[in-house]
Amino acid sequence: MLYVEILGSLPEMARDEVRAMLELGGGKITGEDYLLLKVEADEKAYPFLDRLGLAHEYGELTIEADSVDELLKKADEVEWPIEGTFKVDTETMANCEHDVLDLPRKLGGVIHSKGFKVNLSKPDNLVRAYCGEKLYAGIRLRYFDPKDFERRKAHHRPFFRPISLHPRFSRALVNLTKAKREILDPFMGAGGILIEAGLLGLKVYGVDIRPEMVEGAETNLRNYGVRDYTLELGDATRLEELFPNKKFEAVATDPPYGTAATLAGRKRDELYRKALRSIYNVLEDGGRLAIAFPIEFDGKGEAEAVGFRTVGMYYQRVHKSLERYFYVFEKAR
Ligand SMILES: C[S@@+](CC[C@H](N)C(=O)[O-])C[C@H]1O[C@@H](n2cnc3c(N)ncnc32)[C@H](O)[C@@H]1O
Repeated sequence: MLYVEILGSLPEMARDEVRAMLELGGGKITGEDYLLLKVEADEKAYPFLDRLGLAHEYGELTIEADSVDELLKKADEVEWPIEGTFKVDTETMANCEHDVLDLPRKLGGVIHSKGFKVNLSKPDNLVRAYCGEKLYAGIRLRYFDPKDFERRKAHHRPFFRPISLHPRFSRALVNLTKAKREILDPFMGAGGILIEAGLLGLKVYGVDIRPEMVEGAETNLRNYGVRDYTLELGDATRLEELFPNKKFEAVATDPPYGTAATLAGRKRDELYRKALRSIYNVLEDGGRLAIAFPIEFDGKGEAEAVGFRTVGMYYQRVHKSLERYFYVFEKAR
């Protein structure tokens, strides 16, 4: 059994990202307690869980208990998969119903009494104890360091445009498409989504209507070591002409929201509608599109009118004048 601790900003989107990765890697979510997901999967799922954008960490779930006493009793009974030293670290979630103030010391004491050595400054294993409705303990396998994502934020890239999603969301959009081979971003801008996809080992295709973006996206992709790319100057509403003999496994994109410069003189809603149709035409059957639209646009209705099925829809308030939905659509097989 594994646990995944997801981030709290868009928990439904984060949970569906985990679900998408488990559909690729084999496994399923069997329970949840606030931001902690219980997952049934084996090692084959690790490379896919390693792709996550909206997760804090995942690990092996060793114990689940209804009280601190039960947790400590089970901790004494189980075989801890610890090699080397350890340290206990507690996560008190917002729904925590137990008194866990002293838990790290008590749990550490029990594990120590089983012959394992404590090292508080540089432990080989981190034992994570979670308090929610229930109590959980496990061993962290992978921590998603925020610094890794921060390093790829728009202002750290050689070609800077302030119109970029946070890399964690770009990563989640890619994952929600369940892409295994390739991804197309028809409004690639400075390439934020393509960078995340490229770092996952996917072949990336990008389109933008402005030449400086095509050049800038290439600079950015190369800067992060992404080499397998095809970038085209062109129009996201005429993808069939740009890629005449090609169908894509998946599309992830963040179209312009309405400033004159990014819309290149087009009416916004008409641009969205035409782009949805064109994306539909170049997607493989069963392929997925992950896309953001401002809330004023009926993304679900418009995509379904083109033939898509809606598989996910997540609301986000970016700031006072921008609220959007991230959508995941699927083309029927
Ligand atoms: C919001 S930005 C994308 C940001 C991008 N996700 C990133 O991380 O940098 C939208 C981009 O769409 C481009 N664009 C606008 N109209 C377009 C069209 N009809 N076809 C292709 N690209 C277009 C703009 O030039 C702009 O670079």
